[in-house]
Amino acid sequence: MINEFSSRFGKRPEHIFFCPGRVNLIGEHIDYNGGKVMPCAISLGTYLAVSKNTDKLLRFHSLNFPEKTELHLQESYSKTGKTWFNYPLGVINEYIQDGNALSGLDMVFYGNLPIGAGLSSSASIEVLTGFALNKMFGSGISNIDIALMGKKVENEFIGLNSGIMDQFAVAMGKKDKAILLNCDSLEYEYLPFEIGEYILAIINSNKQRTLADSKYNERFAECGKALKALKKELDVTHLCDIDLKTFEDHRHFINDPVLEKRALHVISENFRVGEAKKALKENDLASFGKLMYASHQSLKDWYEVSGKELDTVVEFCKSYENCIGARMTGAGFGGCSIALVKKNKFEDFCSEITGYYHERIGYKPEVFASEIGDGVNELNNF
Ligand code: GLA
Repeated sequence: MINEFSSRFGKRPEHIFFCPGRVNLIGEHIDYNGGKVMPCAISLGTYLAVSKNTDKLLRFHSLNFPEKTELHLQESYSKTGKTWFNYPLGVINEYIQDGNALSGLDMVFYGNLPIGAGLSSSASIEVLTGFALNKMFGSGISNIDIALMGKKVENEFIGLNSGIMDQFAVAMGKKDKAILLNCDSLEYEYLPFEIGEYILAIINSNKQRTLADSKYNERFAECGKALKALKKELDVTHLCDIDLKTFEDHRHFINDPVLEKRALHVISENFRVGEAKKALKENDLASFGKLMYASHQSLKDWYEVSGKELDTVVEFCKSYENCIGARMTGAGFGGCSIALVKKNKFEDFCSEITGYYHERIGYKPEVFASEIGDGVNELNNF
């Protein structure tokens, strides 16, 4: 990356920053419904090699994509087509709108996260850019505010109604810890993620997520409608303010079977996060694993964001005795699943699941062991 930077710009980068991706252990499609989620940062992510320039130009290069661009410093920017640099550009735009000044920048990005696979490659590049600007121009923004900035970019610049989970996880992650985040109040705690003889496997279905953004926004809207119907009877702000018993007593007010299913997923998933926290605290991995399977089932049947690829992965995991829990992670519609697998059986797991999946889906998944890492940071001594 440094070589690439030097050959493109004729100098070494002044800084290198890194921002991870994330997996969500449990609590899916909960963040924009005001409930609790349990993500953690992983060791794969996005890097940025960057230097200031005096040319008043923003130069965007990537080692992952051929498109590069050069833009003059302006008072505002808008999204251009579907290109990768919309993410850093959206953050730069937001940074300027917040009243911060910046100089020209020479930038090379590189990511080793599978892109668009449910591991938050977009939150990773957003928070990375916000963190870099904050460090380089000394604006004193906290990591939580950088996460909020990334969410705003996602919602307003990119056009996806996502919640805060991804940006928060990659900005605030801690090695070997899961984050229990209340997405309404932004209160959070770190839970030790000690899984002893198990490892956390990530299985990328390699299924391209077509129409994922529009489906995501559709689910967001459906939750809003279900909430509106329940609000006629209940004094609540979010779907996640409702407990399972209250939901059972009032679900008939929704009057639309699809919206009822969506609400059932959200409210039951929020409950499962609480149970998962207890299980982790008691070091009861068997119960944690069962909650992962239940979460997947709910995402499949009630929220309908899974698909045959993700279901095939989880179906294999259920039949494999050295795996105690698995579920899709992230928005769904393709992308990745996670699984708790016995460490000493991991190689066997990889080859078994690859064969099983290939036979049924026609191509292979990618399987790797995940490390739980720290959030965004600057790399020194390069
Ligand atoms: C995507 C969004 C998150 C969250 C998850 C589903 O990753 O960016 O805000 O809603 O989907 O849990």
